[in-house]
Amino acid sequence: MIYLKNAQQIECMRKAGALLFDVLCRLREAIKPGMSTAELDVYAEQLIRKNKAIPSFLDYNGYPASICASVNEEVVHGIPADNVIIKEGDVLSIDCGLILDGWQSDSAFTVGVGQISPEKQKLIEVTEECFFKGVRQAIAGNHVGDIGHAVQEHAESFGYGVIRDLTGHGIGRNMHEEPSVPNFGRQGHGVKLRPGMTLAIEPMIAMGGYRVEELEDGWTIVTADSSICSHYEHTIVVNEHGLPELLSYPGFALTEEAQ
Ligand code: MF3
Ligand code: CO
Repeated sequence: MIYLKNAQQIECMRKAGALLFDVLCRLREAIKPGMSTAELDVYAEQLIRKNKAIPSFLDYNGYPASICASVNEEVVHGIPADNVIIKEGDVLSIDCGLILDGWQSDSAFTVGVGQISPEKQKLIEVTEECFFKGVRQAIAGNHVGDIGHAVQEHAESFGYGVIRDLTGHGIGRNMHEEPSVPNFGRQGHGVKLRPGMTLAIEPMIAMGGYRVEELEDGWTIVTADSSICSHYEHTIVVNEHGLPELLSYPGFALTEEAQ
């Protein structure tokens, strides 16, 4: 079942998205070599609760934290811990979600800790570009496969691997709703996009192959070849006409001509 949202519901998701954007901006500024990922998690939970929202990841299927902090070859779902100390040169992905007045938002970004190699910087940039190529396809009348195709084409043109075992998703009152939004696919295939569909689009791109494994903690997903991975995600809404709105990126507007 796909739940289309009306203008009032989208306004609620816009507020959740704006708050999540603020939380992620503050987390980004806080990232420094030598700190633990647990410190970032505590900070995120404080920011969320201070604003009368709920951390959506905490206790989700037993997940023990408010953010996922995934370092280097970790793709997603890295559990924050006191003994995970981020260091200069690391590639760090932070994924966070919250619920405000019953409405969900989900967003992630990847940064270099201190100075990182040009190779790693390129991966982070291309992953963001993949998101923007994909989100531009989130137009009423297009299909979910158009999003995945755009992401895949861009990532693979750089020789990168597109993670297939994890996907984007519908989002609304629940963090994960239909449809699933893969980062690979065929143009014109899959669910047809309609106005009021709210989606989390989230390319996960590896320097090497696309295969992944789960660690023994039952959460952390790593690349099978231990290659570095990057993740970028926003919650968006498909508009009646034209390009989508990025609910978790307030003030940002996609423009027709820009790539
Ligand atoms: N942000 C993740 C997603 O997009 C969810 C994290 S799973 C959790 O699917 F358990 F950490 F919540
Ligand atoms: Co998500």
